[in-house]
Amino acid sequence: MSVRHLSGTTAGHRPELREKSLLDRLALDDPELNDRLRESLERVETWLLAVARDAADPRVGAVAGHLAEAGGKRLRPLLVLLGAEFGEPWRDGVTQAAVIAELVHIASLHHDDVMDGAGTRHGVPSVHARFGERAAVLAGDWLLARASQLAAQLGPEAVQLNARTAGRLVAGQLRELTGPAPGEDPVAHYFQVLAGKTAALLSMALGIGALQAGAPPATLTALTEYGELLGVAFQIADDLLDLRSPCGASGKEPGTDLLAGVPTLPVLLALEGTDPADAELRALLAAGPVPATSLRRTLDLFARSPALPETEAVLYRRLDRARTVLGALPALPARDALLALCDYVAHRTS
Ligand code: IPE
Ligand code: IPE
Ligand code: MG
Ligand code: MG
Repeated sequence: MSVRHLSGTTAGHRPELREKSLLDRLALDDPELNDRLRESLERVETWLLAVARDAADPRVGAVAGHLAEAGGKRLRPLLVLLGAEFGEPWRDGVTQAAVIAELVHIASLHHDDVMDGAGTRHGVPSVHARFGERAAVLAGDWLLARASQLAAQLGPEAVQLNARTAGRLVAGQLRELTGPAPGEDPVAHYFQVLAGKTAALLSMALGIGALQAGAPPATLTALTEYGELLGVAFQIADDLLDLRSPCGASGKEPGTDLLAGVPTLPVLLALEGTDPADAELRALLAAGPVPATSLRRTLDLFARSPALPETEAVLYRRLDRARTVLGALPALPARDALLALCDYVAHRTS
């Protein structure tokens, strides 16, 4: 296995972007848990890359393997492994569940980059930028099919979880496309979109890990509830990153959401504001997708707008609720890791 695969970073093929893995960033106090997670993540990585490329026609494998090979934080596999810590993490099926969660995630990135017209992902050209939109969408579907195949080997509960999650994710993305219904509050709509497009999979990752490890039902319930809250917070942090990621440290192009006209929380809060100092920003945002020529100006105006600290306040409140839910879990080192994840999301830079 190459160093790139072991590192599990967002760096992908770009050594200059190589950075600490998510696990390193969490700086867990418990060395045994840390080592166990690191070894498991290495197994997941090997398996994931093999599954993503394992097509009868290598040209299909090349499209489907492109993003998996480019990197990624592997947050969802980590959540599966942490969920499993509340049962018997060594059980058969845990690693496979982690691969399933990341396959669904990568498939969603194929589709999402087409939706958002994003040219870069993990610091490399997005799938559609490299292979065309039709190939990107079809290869995303193929990855979802691979996830279903693996879930079928784990049994009906895993199939059900996987299918339900993929359905929620796609419905969330569709709700983003359709926008709020007439009379619907745009902020309420935004939170529904987030619950589907992001929180569903983070929650499922924890749940399927706990399920495969045979954790008690009450533990599984608390973990999935935490996952829903963490997922919404993670997406709010992502929406903030789009506005201030230092020269693309996230491996994505800053301003992609603005250019695509995605009404993220900072945009909605800026539009709702009444501060005269924000009038120019409101005018730019109200005119629809921001033209490329106005992007720099819009980002500068955002940097001074109260909409950013207001969005942060919403983010921190979600994370506080997530931390509270963790109180229902047994006091294991994995619970500390889930607490550390809340701090990571609060200060996300990639
Ligand atoms: C990106 O997720 C899509 C969102 C839900 C915001 P990640 O930030 O976890 O993607 P990776 O780490 O690049 O795969
Ligand atoms: C999350 O939304 C998309 C998925 C759930 C796949 P974004 O559009 O904000 O994700 P990024 O910023 O492109 O990663
Ligand atoms: Mg996107
Ligand atoms: Mg985003």
